[in-house]
Amino acid sequence: MPSPDASPSPRLAAVLDRVDRNLDGSLARLCEFLRIPSVSTDPSHAGEVRRAGRWASDQLASLGFTSTLVETAGHPFVVAHHPGPGRGPRILYYGHYDVQPADPLALWRSGAFEPVIEEGPLGRRVVARGACDDKGQVMTFIEAFRAWTEVHGAPPVPVTVMLEGEEESGSPSLEPFLAAHREKLAASICIVSDTGMWDAETPAITTMLRGLVYDEVILRGPSHDLHSGMYGGTLANPINALVEVLGALHDRDGRVAIPGFYEGIVDPPKEVLTAWRSLPFDEREFLGSAGVSIPHGEPGRTTMERMWSRPTCDVNGIWGGYAGKGAKTVIACEAGAKFSCRLVAGMDPERIRRLLRGFIEDRLPPGITAEFHPHGVSPAIAVPVDGPLMQAARRGLRLAYGRDAAMIGTGGSIPAVGAIRRHLGIDSILAGFGLDDDRVHSPNEKFEVCCLHGGTRAHAAMLEEFAKV
Ligand code: BES
Ligand code: MN
Ligand code: MN
Repeated sequence: MPSPDASPSPRLAAVLDRVDRNLDGSLARLCEFLRIPSVSTDPSHAGEVRRAGRWASDQLASLGFTSTLVETAGHPFVVAHHPGPGRGPRILYYGHYDVQPADPLALWRSGAFEPVIEEGPLGRRVVARGACDDKGQVMTFIEAFRAWTEVHGAPPVPVTVMLEGEEESGSPSLEPFLAAHREKLAASICIVSDTGMWDAETPAITTMLRGLVYDEVILRGPSHDLHSGMYGGTLANPINALVEVLGALHDRDGRVAIPGFYEGIVDPPKEVLTAWRSLPFDEREFLGSAGVSIPHGEPGRTTMERMWSRPTCDVNGIWGGYAGKGAKTVIACEAGAKFSCRLVAGMDPERIRRLLRGFIEDRLPPGITAEFHPHGVSPAIAVPVDGPLMQAARRGLRLAYGRDAAMIGTGGSIPAVGAIRRHLGIDSILAGFGLDDDRVHSPNEKFEVCCLHGGTRAHAAMLEEFAKV
């Protein structure tokens, strides 16, 4: 989608030039950030999570921000303010400094928290947990602030930065935090870099996110593990019960079989669907990035619809019984699973949770009980595609990349976007710089240096455009 070249103002050109010259330093700083194993779901890593928050906070402080760690019941938030030139719209930047667990460790080519720079088809890339999600992307705006500050003494607009340390564990402290700090987070718009580009040359703004409801179930039967010869066939086996009910979640064609699951769904607006249809989506390439050649999912839907505008139900983990070497004839006394549904507009997360739990409970054999543990929920969300700051962001992306941003959806969820709208009353612009093949949440996660570089240039240019509004 090339568009007529607008050229940067001399003031922006100087900043972009600084971004280019800083690139190796930016990459070195990102590697330092990546060496801190800030896994938020694992309580034993709490100290490391805090250290990563402190590291990001110190970076911002060194750029003239007033930066603090704000405590919550869980991991702290980084909150940093810069007055900019003392006028203009205040821009709130959101990102997260926590990362997913590195497991399974054996599948990493090198340590998950020992970043390595590799050469790939797009040039250099950095491989480490959090490289793309979200430390590399957080660095794109921090490095843009750096370039503006080094060249002109300050960013061209007032800036607030809010970095979360619990995004990857369902954002449990987010709502109370936003409710308690409404005033100090006041801004005209929120900018989020935690999504993807269309491809390495084409920037994207994500306007629709799916929601999520995540649950865990433990099935229990006998009081202790049993000899499967002595007891087998005489009582209900929790693992058998678990796989039977999980197996019933989908019909043979791939449709979710929970009664009422698809009720109330609102299709994306016509303009959005039209915009999606005009995107040159390559299904083969998309599936290829997952090492797959055959699509599978809800019948009668394209891969793009399945990914961006249809709900899912997936088992994310399953445990129980003997999985060690060799054979052990045992009936385990318990078994469990973690599972989650991606939600789209019109679906109420709590209703879906009730349906899921009821579906499981209704199908348990006599003698098996279920215990449920809720994890994060967030409803699906759409962000407005117009407004002067959105137009400014699009101009900035066009300046940096020489082509229009694709307006896309995503299958992922970012609970903060809805929470920021509810508590702070502002919308978010999701301008992200990841690529489909970045292996987020997976071993050997990577971030292309061209994405770090282009993302930093794009943020520098967006700042310039925000200052004109
Ligand atoms: N950055 C992702 C969300 C995302 C993934 C956006 C892929 C676009 C493309 C975010 O860090 C994430 O993983 N979110 C979780 C939310 C959950 C833990 C509540 C998700 O989507 O699973
Ligand atoms: Mn993320
Ligand atoms: Mn993530």
